[in-house]
Amino acid sequence: MTAVPNTAVPNTAAPTVRADQLPDLPRWETTPTDLPAAVRDVKNAIRGRLAAAGRTVEDVFAVIERRVGEQVAEIVAATERGEAIWPVVEYADVAAGTVPAETVALLRRRGCLVVRGHFDREQALAWDRGIVDYVEGNGFFEAYRGPGDDFFGSVGSTPEIYPVYWSPAQMQARQSDRMAAVQGFLNRLWTFESEGRVWFDPDRDALYPDRIRRRPEGVDSAGLGTHLDPGTLDLWMTGAYQQAFRHLFDGTVEQYDPWDAAHRTAGPQYPGTTMCSAFRTFQGWTALSDMDHDQGVLHTVPIADAMGYLMLRPLLADVADDDMCGVTVNQVFPANQKYHSLLLQALSGIPDVRAGDSVWWHCDMIHGVAPVRDQKGWGNVMYIPAAPWCPRNEAYSASVRDAFLTGSSPTDFPEEHYERTWPDRFGVDDLNTTGRRGLGLDHP
Ligand SMILES: [Fe+2]
Repeated sequence: MTAVPNTAVPNTAAPTVRADQLPDLPRWETTPTDLPAAVRDVKNAIRGRLAAAGRTVEDVFAVIERRVGEQVAEIVAATERGEAIWPVVEYADVAAGTVPAETVALLRRRGCLVVRGHFDREQALAWDRGIVDYVEGNGFFEAYRGPGDDFFGSVGSTPEIYPVYWSPAQMQARQSDRMAAVQGFLNRLWTFESEGRVWFDPDRDALYPDRIRRRPEGVDSAGLGTHLDPGTLDLWMTGAYQQAFRHLFDGTVEQYDPWDAAHRTAGPQYPGTTMCSAFRTFQGWTALSDMDHDQGVLHTVPIADAMGYLMLRPLLADVADDDMCGVTVNQVFPANQKYHSLLLQALSGIPDVRAGDSVWWHCDMIHGVAPVRDQKGWGNVMYIPAAPWCPRNEAYSASVRDAFLTGSSPTDFPEEHYERTWPDRFGVDDLNTTGRRGLGLDHP
């Protein structure tokens, strides 16, 4: 791992107009009925707001392009030198509070990391076996009705993604002290107190329930194209997101900070099959098998600032007025060669991981899964993000509690409900304090 110098671009064009004196942007707190018209309106309004601040779209985009481009060049050069791109942190250092300051600086720059030894290898392998026992013992493969959604469904008809949420293995990991320690560390990479408000509680996780992936040895997989998960058109159109990305739209692009949680933790999201109702500081998974770096693993564009580029790129003149570079509701936010070729040069895969390691990436980060032919070994993970307690996650927790108590699929996911009749799913009596707080059971 190489420490890198801070090359933040100095503010050379500070605006003289205060944000509250600029024209307001139009807002749509629910999905607009006329999407092309709304896209045109908000793009024009952002251009007008920037002009009122004394700047142009081309000018502010150039600032972010330079800032991101320097990091792309650095990552490409480091890759050519054979250096590792993904920062790696030892769990023991997280637990002891001894992660070196230069590593923390690198984490903020790259926005992703591997936690080595997050769980004991034997624990992770036991969880993997436990999941097999859980699904086989409950006749899951006989009952399986095929993929419940289009997104992961495109991977294949054999269940690699198990729509299973409430196994003892998953819940034990979610409510474990080791998970809480890592989530607390990751949450603190964000600024969660500002403007006289606390935007989230870094020490209380909302236990966002997600699925399991078990990809068997020998498979061919087409992988998953590069995309983002934080939202779609709502990122430009709701009042809360306009506030969260305010520096991109009000002429102060130099102050854009991907680690600023202000206004991100309470707003709405447009509904869709790919939505995530929760606010996640990081998305993540815990490895339940060893996976080598060339076996169809996760890749990211490891540049935390890249979201600024993605948000401003549609405003340039070469994109049609009613087009957000292909972003639309009810589909994942695509990152593609047509508009994002600069960013995609930096696409970098995780290093080899062992069972018990965990992998994390900033919630706004471009990510995808590489294709693989004749996969060596299994590729098994539990998706467990960092979703700190905040108004948005508290609101979603009501449906999570209900899904937990009834063994249902959580409302962000297809209504498959395989576990409702499974007697050995994790129960309310198995919850520890972390689990009860995470599900809001001690604070109804
Ligand atoms: Fe994703």
